[in-house]
Amino acid sequence: MNTLVTDASKAGASVGLAGDRITINGGRPLTGRIEVRGAKNLVTKAMVAALLGDTPSLLRNVPDISDVRVVRGLLEVHGAKVLDGDEPGSFVLDPANVESAHMADIDAHAGSSRIPILFCGPLLHRLGEAFIPDLGGCRIGDRPIDFHLEVLRRFGAIVEKLPSGIRMSAPNGLEGTKVELPYPSVGATEQVLLTAVRARGITELKNAAIEPEIMDLVNILQKMGAIITVDTDRVIHIEGVERLTGYTHTALFDRNEAASWAAAALATSGDIFVGGAQQAEMLTFLNVFRKVGGAFDIDDDGIRFYHPGGDLKPVVIETDVHPGFMTDWQQPLVVALTKAQGVSIVHETVYEQRFGFVDALVEMGASIQIHKECLGGHACRFGQRNFNHSAVISGPSTLHGADIEVPDLRGGFSHLIAALSAEGTSTVSNVGIISRGYENFITKLKQLGADFVLEG
Ligand code: EPZ
Repeated sequence: MNTLVTDASKAGASVGLAGDRITINGGRPLTGRIEVRGAKNLVTKAMVAALLGDTPSLLRNVPDISDVRVVRGLLEVHGAKVLDGDEPGSFVLDPANVESAHMADIDAHAGSSRIPILFCGPLLHRLGEAFIPDLGGCRIGDRPIDFHLEVLRRFGAIVEKLPSGIRMSAPNGLEGTKVELPYPSVGATEQVLLTAVRARGITELKNAAIEPEIMDLVNILQKMGAIITVDTDRVIHIEGVERLTGYTHTALFDRNEAASWAAAALATSGDIFVGGAQQAEMLTFLNVFRKVGGAFDIDDDGIRFYHPGGDLKPVVIETDVHPGFMTDWQQPLVVALTKAQGVSIVHETVYEQRFGFVDALVEMGASIQIHKECLGGHACRFGQRNFNHSAVISGPSTLHGADIEVPDLRGGFSHLIAALSAEGTSTVSNVGIISRGYENFITKLKQLGADFVLEG
């Protein structure tokens, strides 16, 4: 019997899990239907954007994941109200009484989230000051925030590094500026958007990221009264305005969760209908899924992902910014590639250390080598810099059960898939991390026929 409890008191910890270890009897196809709701990497930013409005906002399609609970806690310690909306999975966000928060409170709520850095722009506009603790996030590289701090300085913020974090102030308000990002960083692009919309004058952002989650944030900001143009060469112009109102918005679906379940269907020779998934945002993933030997049927209310039989084929993948193959899609898919007939290559060009999860797959019998060279595609910024950022996967391998530990969010989901597709029994510990980005994944596994027991 799986005991599911939701411990709201530990924001940032696991949500929905009583235990932190799961014992899985692998080798059964996952079949059935699950629903995917709003994108973790949009909903968390949309919640922060509500601080910019002078009236409440209504956000729909909000997943119950711990990253959302963390941001809810951070908004509340700053005096904003986050109330459950009339319909399930909706929030009413009221920024009326926003005030500075105590450092200790922010730190206590920030958990392993990187979202606090995005509070700076809105708080500097509302209060003239902001504080962020040292940031967390998955261990997939050193996750710097140098682009963010440089952007905020360019808007006129005074940035002070303290032992416990970073304090910012903007005694003269914030001024529109010209920024060119060294790399199309999602977070830094969001930093510019959330700061420029209420800065004095015009901001020009070159080399912007244009992921679907960013474009959905632009939709939200435009609803609030912002004036934002996105040019064909990924240059974004924002005309600052005096005031913004609240918004009503239904969040874009989570394409990373959808791709993870698709990979699970392939690796377990299963058949999963992912309700809520949309083709447009998954175009590149669908091409690779088909090339590996997966099949999919696109419907109005979701996408059916299934293994049509026959051998899986090896592929060469290079992750990139949108519209390239998303870095968050490669970990779950690598498990299916261990079953392909031949040699696949994954060249990870977004993060420098994103193959830590393969150690567990090798322990389970996979044949995967990691290399420092840029393999299979173009030279990237990590080439010849001592980063193990290319993987060579030789298949087919038969995975056998093992005792493994979840290293990070997406790597953790790949561990689940590996255990589900392996012969024999595995224990996967530290699964609480997975609830950071996968709503009710234990319930969904049960719905799809997985054979497991939740322990601890
Ligand atoms: C967002 O992270 C997502 N997280 C990530 O998803 C996603 O993988 C990533 O974008 C890329 O699409 C959220 O939205 C919460 P970046 P972010 O800034 O914004 C370097 C998941 O599993 N960089 O685009 O932190 C950075 O080190 C997560 O859902 C700097 O050097 O990613 C990385 O190499 C994982 N300095 C590259 O840019 C900076 O100041 C891309 O990072 C900022 C980033």
